[in-house]
Amino acid sequence: PSDTVQQVADMISSADRITVFTGAGMSAESGIATFRSGDDGLWGRFDPMMLASVDGWEADPHLVWGWYAWRIGQLRDVVPNAGHRALADLAQHKVVDVVTQNVDDLHERAGSTVVSHLHGSLTATRCSVCRAPYDGPVARPYHEQIDGDDLDSLRLAPPTCARCGGDVRPGVVWFGEMLPEREWASAVDSFDACDLVLVVGTSGIVYPAAGLPDRAAGRGVPIIEVNPDESALSGLATHSIRSTAASALPLLARVIDG
Ligand code: APR
Repeated sequence: PSDTVQQVADMISSADRITVFTGAGMSAESGIATFRSGDDGLWGRFDPMMLASVDGWEADPHLVWGWYAWRIGQLRDVVPNAGHRALADLAQHKVVDVVTQNVDDLHERAGSTVVSHLHGSLTATRCSVCRAPYDGPVARPYHEQIDGDDLDSLRLAPPTCARCGGDVRPGVVWFGEMLPEREWASAVDSFDACDLVLVVGTSGIVYPAAGLPDRAAGRGVPIIEVNPDESALSGLATHSIRSTAASALPLLARVIDG
């Protein structure tokens, strides 16, 4: 292994509490598109203000619901990748807190304990009026892939809340919305208690989430970045592994196991 990988493996071996901060790149090798990287980046194809903001929801709830119903349906087609599994294995020997910006459930399905879903979760669908959790069926608009930028065929009326009859909405945090307090507080606790941070698969440009690693860096905690490309957090990283989650994380685990 490269000396960076060896050094990072040694740092992981001697750490007591590791906070892993993940973004969309963590799930890329499971087949879930990222937002701003690669040629299938979602915000390169669609307008986030239309699909991931309160205004977009209020302007066209059928389009927004159809889009999330498609993404909720996609969860049935994807599985955790070797990177998710390596993080879950690491937690057998260390305290590993996962703080994720992702709304998929792949960390949990790999066996990780996710201490914080900063941007909510596709599995937390709720009523947009009384906030009651919705665990009814989520019909998937007929569409294997979203061709080009044709979203019209995704339109679907959201289910109605059994309790109050309100429209059901995705359990994710939209641009302009506050992050859930409990998720934020446990993320802050994790970054304030750890002695090593792994930053995996995030462009590091969406705040307040992107500001969390700085809390640990401010305490002199080493920040390791795993990302094939530079990111806005590369400047904070003490070591960068320019590789993907599904190849770098298992490699680190193998080097640690010697
Ligand atoms: N392994 C590791 N990193 C990868 C991989 C991979 N296989 N593929 C891509 N990446 C990196 C990209 O280089 C990029 O830096 O993952 C990052 C993905 O960045 P974004 O698409 O911006 O995703 P993210 O940082 O999670 O976005 C943050 O923005 O739209 C909002 O709420 C949404 O949580 C999301 C937030």
